[in-house]
Amino acid sequence: MYLDKYPLSTALARPLIAENLVNIAREINADAVAHGCTGKGNDQVRFDLAINALGPDLKIITPAREWKMSREEAIEYGEKFGIPAPVSKKSPYSIDVNLLGRSIEAGILEDPMQEAPEDIFAMTSSIDNSPDSPQDIEIVFKNGFPVGINDEFLTPLEIILKANDLSGAHGFGRIDMIEDRVVGIKSREIYETPGLLLLIKAHKELESITLNPDVVDFKGIVEKKWGQLVYQGFWFGPLKDSLDAFISSTQTSVNGRVKIRLYKGNAIVIGRMSENNSLYREDLATYSQNDIFNHSLAEGFIYMWGMSNKIWAELNSKTKN
Ligand code: ARG
Repeated sequence: MYLDKYPLSTALARPLIAENLVNIAREINADAVAHGCTGKGNDQVRFDLAINALGPDLKIITPAREWKMSREEAIEYGEKFGIPAPVSKKSPYSIDVNLLGRSIEAGILEDPMQEAPEDIFAMTSSIDNSPDSPQDIEIVFKNGFPVGINDEFLTPLEIILKANDLSGAHGFGRIDMIEDRVVGIKSREIYETPGLLLLIKAHKELESITLNPDVVDFKGIVEKKWGQLVYQGFWFGPLKDSLDAFISSTQTSVNGRVKIRLYKGNAIVIGRMSENNSLYREDLATYSQNDIFNHSLAEGFIYMWGMSNKIWAELNSKTKN
């Protein structure tokens, strides 16, 4: 998640596109590749850095950026070469779409106080149009990867498609945010990433029952850095590789299932379980007489746990005599 909100749906696609660009350049013995990014966005950074990393000898040609084209000029230029742009006066938005989601910006969205009009959305229904009854689903994970929904084992592609459909139908997965671009500009972006947000939510829940508290805590720091690296174009780089290794090593115990209720723009966790990796112990957590936790040891623990604060309070307490 970038800025705790954006699951990087567009950013994740760029290294893959760059890799294919470089592969094709090699196949046809080209000495340069081109892309159509402007000089203002994040995508130019992601493409350039990824191409540099994979094909440092390749020249990068960027007509829109180099010739300082306006949007209108870029559209005209594309049309001249048989590449029509999917924009019109009526729909002036800049939209990026892939399996993981849609990013929508420009037009009236440039006023951050203006509510996003309903007609920009394509993967998620509005709350009004979503079903009036909730739908409960279960997502199954193996080694941290989603492998099934509702007892049906699915390929990664099928999982994301199904998660998009389920979540989207119930209006879950819209994001309206101000984001900090790499180039220093704040911009307003609307996303719909219904499946991705659902899977991330379920996955985090399963981690909460299968990972040690110190691992969960540290992984949060790693995730934040990972999100920044990917957002800022450093997909192919040594730090990203090292963080990946850490993340992978935490996932061997993330096995189990999470129950989620989809309803009116919400995805509410209503249950979680792990057959072989659950760290939840009912005999320790229970308030019933089956409790095996040793209560009497708590007193000594608290005595030492709060000792430094107690010393401080004795010295500083306003109410002391
Ligand atoms: N701001 C997002 C990002 O940098 C998405 C940009 C994609 N382009 C667009 N036309 N909305 O990842």
